Amino acid sequence: MASAAEKHPAYNPSATPSPKARARRQLDLAVRGWFAATVLGQGLFIAFILLFYYTSVFSGDYAAWNAKPMITGYVEGDATGNHQFALHVLAAAIITSCGLLQLVPQVRARWPMLHRWSGRLFLAMALILSFGGLWLVWVRGSYMTIPGAIAISMDGLLILWFGTMAWITARQRSFAAHRRWALRTFIVASGVWFMRLGYIVWGVMTGGAGIERGLSGPFDLVWAFATHLLPLAVLELYLRAERGSPQAQRAMAGGLWLAAVLIFGGSLGAWFFMWWPAIMA
Ligand code: HEM
Repeated sequence: MASAAEKHPAYNPSATPSPKARARRQLDLAVRGWFAATVLGQGLFIAFILLFYYTSVFSGDYAAWNAKPMITGYVEGDATGNHQFALHVLAAAIITSCGLLQLVPQVRARWPMLHRWSGRLFLAMALILSFGGLWLVWVRGSYMTIPGAIAISMDGLLILWFGTMAWITARQRSFAAHRRWALRTFIVASGVWFMRLGYIVWGVMTGGAGIERGLSGPFDLVWAFATHLLPLAVLELYLRAERGSPQAQRAMAGGLWLAAVLIFGGSLGAWFFMWWPAIMA
């Protein structure tokens, strides 16, 4: 029996989608591929934070942090610094979880209340991580090089700026602008995660060219800034491609698939070479 759609006078089973519609579909599919890789990669990052940091913080065994390479980590007698760092890692798992939740379209459509509260929690954690992170760098002195300290501070300031804009535009109910600022906030808040993935991917591809002890090599210095600026540039290209020509959308889809593959490989590498050995140490 023919369906209601098939009975419609405009129904034409042999009609092929226009190049514009096909390019749009390719772009949407690439976004899903990118998001699937990101969920896997950030899921592993959250698992690491829970299994390594939450267990040590809640059992009061702060000294266990130093089982993995740290800039400062646990310092005996430095109660303020240790507690500040404990707060930082506790907030890190929450912001990463909330960030992923915010991007799921079904959550926004079916549970708008959950989206709002998760968004508020994300922004509260962004304040803790950015101001707390700036304190760790400039007061506690947790940095390897001055350019590295400036780069991570820039990331913290971008998180605060974009997060504020996402909040303001949500309150104004300017949803198109809110979406853009929220995506930018997600990307810069993922900067520290991109940093770890980038080291793995670059290390495997080049054998560690430009990486020096003390993070003072050419790759270290460039990647310190590119870790948030490069993904941000990709996002800006995506926001333009969405409204661009079919060619631009197809090129963007290709770029996003490449990003998905790098994120997928980098995440598995980070888990097996960085995070799992630290958990098992
Ligand atoms: C919002 C995103 C952020 C997340 C998810 C995050 C997460 C983390 C995690 C998990 C660690 C532990 C290091 C590890 O085991 O790999 C860490 C360390 C650190 N973070 Fe963040 N962070 C964020 C933002 C920032 C910002 C904006 C700054 C600075 C302005 C910062 C400064 C630091 C410093 C200095 C350390 C090293 C502490 C040490 O080794 O002694 N973080 N962060």
